[in-house]
Amino acid sequence: MADALLAAALAARENAFAPYSKFKVGAALEEVDGRVHTGCNVENATYGLTVCAERVAVFKAISEGARKFRRVAVAADTDALTPPCGACRQILWEFCGDVEIVLVNPRGKTETYRLKDLFPKPFDASFL
Ligand code: THU
Repeated sequence: MADALLAAALAARENAFAPYSKFKVGAALEEVDGRVHTGCNVENATYGLTVCAERVAVFKAISEGARKFRRVAVAADTDALTPPCGACRQILWEFCGDVEIVLVNPRGKTETYRLKDLFPKPFDASFL
């Protein structure tokens, strides 16, 4: 995989803790200075406490002081590429704004979106 961000998302996916769904997801965020933060989905026996790969990556990055992001990659092994769930779109909007979202699978298929197109009318701090 020539694009290091996509390679990072695919590699993070290998760490997924997904014994219940068996559906492994990886995510990678690229800061404006090029640094990369990764995450994988972490499931729980209660099911409802599962956290998606995208939110793990965002919270890891924010907790390490990262603040400005220019791209997000999401990796799953599906032919119809897996997009972020609704909860993750909300969290991505909060911290990344209208960022570029690249979906990828292990066979190298990719699709690129702007978050605004996946999440067209967000609720955010501008309403508070
Ligand atoms: N999942 C993610 O990590 N990200 C997504 O964008 C979609 C879903 C995870 C949550 C759960 O562990 C598994 O995939 C099945 O829903």
